Amino acid sequence: MANDKVTLTDHRTQKSYELPLNDGHIRAADLRQIKTGPDDFGMMSYDPAFMNTASCKSAVTYLDGENGILRYRGYPIEELAENCTFLEVAYLLLNGELPSQNELKDWVEQVSQHRLVHENLKKFIDGFHYDAHPMGILTSTVAALSTFYPEAHNIKDKLNRKQQILRLVAKMPTIAAYAFRHSLGLPYVFPENDLSYTENFMHMLWKRTEPRYQSNPVLARALDVLFILHADHEQNASTSVMRAVGSSHADPYAATAAACAALSGPLHGGANEEVLVMLAQIGSVDNVKDYVKHIKEGKGKLMGFGHRVYKNYDPRARIIKRTAEEVFKVTGRNPKLDIALELEKIALEDEYFVKRKLYPNVDFYSGIIYQAMGFKPEMFTVLFAIPRVAGWLAQWQEMLEDPEQKIARPRQIYIGKELRHVTGKSAGLRAVASD
Ligand code: CMC
Repeated sequence: MANDKVTLTDHRTQKSYELPLNDGHIRAADLRQIKTGPDDFGMMSYDPAFMNTASCKSAVTYLDGENGILRYRGYPIEELAENCTFLEVAYLLLNGELPSQNELKDWVEQVSQHRLVHENLKKFIDGFHYDAHPMGILTSTVAALSTFYPEAHNIKDKLNRKQQILRLVAKMPTIAAYAFRHSLGLPYVFPENDLSYTENFMHMLWKRTEPRYQSNPVLARALDVLFILHADHEQNASTSVMRAVGSSHADPYAATAAACAALSGPLHGGANEEVLVMLAQIGSVDNVKDYVKHIKEGKGKLMGFGHRVYKNYDPRARIIKRTAEEVFKVTGRNPKLDIALELEKIALEDEYFVKRKLYPNVDFYSGIIYQAMGFKPEMFTVLFAIPRVAGWLAQWQEMLEDPEQKIARPRQIYIGKELRHVTGKSAGLRAVASD
């Protein structure tokens, strides 16, 4: 509404200011007019960890944490998980609309053709120690891609951007599979063009001496659904990093590698690996009560619980729980599931968790499924990164096309020493003089 505004009164000066509201929000820069005098820099808002600051306008993902709603480009996550493939969803995130049949055929063909990586990239992966964490290998190898495609720095050229996006979506599973096989000392497997995105990934992971790995269709579909659920999640830590690094006009491989690094932390994508560590520590259903007590005493966190934005059940966790049932029909039940279910039951009834609105998040059950499918915990965050690339790139593209965006450069409130001077020679120079 044209009239929407708020009035702020500065009681230091008794002056009032009218700040216009745009979609119900003020612009932080409008606060700068609030000054105590001409030498005053002007008021800033202070918001560590961005608890209440929107850094962009975005049309990619809608998230209502209070009501447990998640939509990509307007479509509910439940409908996408039920009716689409991951590559359709990736197309939707990147282009704004679901593909027509012809568009999808084209997109799938192009992704299939770009699955191969340069032979030198394999040698690069060979350089890692045998026990290198696959997430470290993935992050570094994605960064190395920028040296293979130097034209990627030309980020203003839309066609060129599309080419790098295609390469990243196509090559992530290949790099992930090679990181996995490197740790086992197994030869890298060429991608197969006629297999679906997840079938080909499973082939590159698990083929041994047979000509082609036969993936179970239920498991391949389950992986596809998990990829859909992880494809985007608006302005989380890694996406913010993608946008921040991209805002300096670094190439998309550098920005994606930085986003991978942010994702690897245990408070973000690394949590799925930590959940399995935690469930192993708990050991059996009988120990769950004591473990919860120990958490309530402030001795650690319940990994896979809590979320900055969701203050209601994470809708992705609900879909994952259903997917787990499908997977276990094929693989047999992961015994860790019973511990997880008991943990969830106790936590959801316990005042500590209820009061703080701590619910299971996407990472709580995903690791249990991945383990049942044959992945080792070190691979879990890699499995998160593969589909998230679609979301990161959609957000990166949107940021580059947004005329309001500039290089990301937060302000600070300086709390260090006032001006002081070095008196005499420093200790370092005195040491050189006496040598
Ligand atoms: N277990 C126990 N207590 C918790 C947990 C938890 N998992 N999460 C938050 N709390 C408590 C926290 O100690 C604080 O208590 P108090 O008010 O007494 O100080 C209160 O709940 C609020 O927590 P917060 O740390 O201010 O919340 P946040 O929004 O800064 O953190 C979070 C969100 C996801 C980092 C946090 O909940 C957490 O560390 N969870 C465990 C790690 C995890 O599962 N991460 C995956 C997140 S979802 C997928 C993704 O992003 O990759």
